Amino acid sequence: MEPPQTFTRPQEPNELIPEDYFCELPLADHFSQDAPLEIDLGCGDGSFLLAMAEKHPERNFIGVERLLGRVRKVCRKGDRMGLTNLRVLRLESLYTLEWLLPPESVSRLHLLCPDPWPKAKHHRRRLFQEPFLKAVMRVLIPDGELLFKTDHTEYFEWSEEQLDNFPALEKMAWPEDAFFYPKTDFQLQWEGEGKTLQGLRARKPS
Ligand SMILES: C[S@@+](CC[C@H](N)C(=O)[O-])C[C@H]1O[C@@H](n2cnc3c(N)ncnc32)[C@H](O)[C@@H]1O
Repeated sequence: MEPPQTFTRPQEPNELIPEDYFCELPLADHFSQDAPLEIDLGCGDGSFLLAMAEKHPERNFIGVERLLGRVRKVCRKGDRMGLTNLRVLRLESLYTLEWLLPPESVSRLHLLCPDPWPKAKHHRRRLFQEPFLKAVMRVLIPDGELLFKTDHTEYFEWSEEQLDNFPALEKMAWPEDAFFYPKTDFQLQWEGEGKTLQGLRARKPS
């Protein structure tokens, strides 16, 4: 009998395709330098991620994104920019945090303009809740940080409440000029429409 046919697609430049989706990622195999790791969950078209990777060649970056078109776009832009410290992973964010990233491997986790799921019946789909915060605790190094921004006031309030009910992570102030923090594609779009973003910053105690 003929073996079942498998369909593969070519790997994009800078794309991180795990050898085994059921084992922790051997990060050292995917980067040419041993450096602090930052993750951008739902990186979209990648303006934030690309600017960060360009500004900080001394750090490693992984963008996590489920849409193939967006993954391709970010991979190709990163390649044109000659970024060797950037990889893009096409996968679901929570799965990546819960199963793929090794424990205590991430120095900063960015969750920027995630889908707010505004209808009450969809709130359970929101990423920012206890399972996510537990997974964040798992992957962050001591002193590692979670950075979150949204234009959606009700999602911001919900997320702040989730964080307040999760004392393992310490809420921190996030002044505008705290550090280099480029705007995301969605942020530019929302600000262009007159909306403002609110942010949360939290730390895993050492
Ligand atoms: C509203 S966009 C924000 C994109 C980017 N962070 C920005 O601010 O421009 C949300 C992105 O997250 C991706 N996304 C949504 N849920 C996801 C999930 N569970 N896992 C991975 N990516 C996800 C979407 O495909 C989309 O590109």
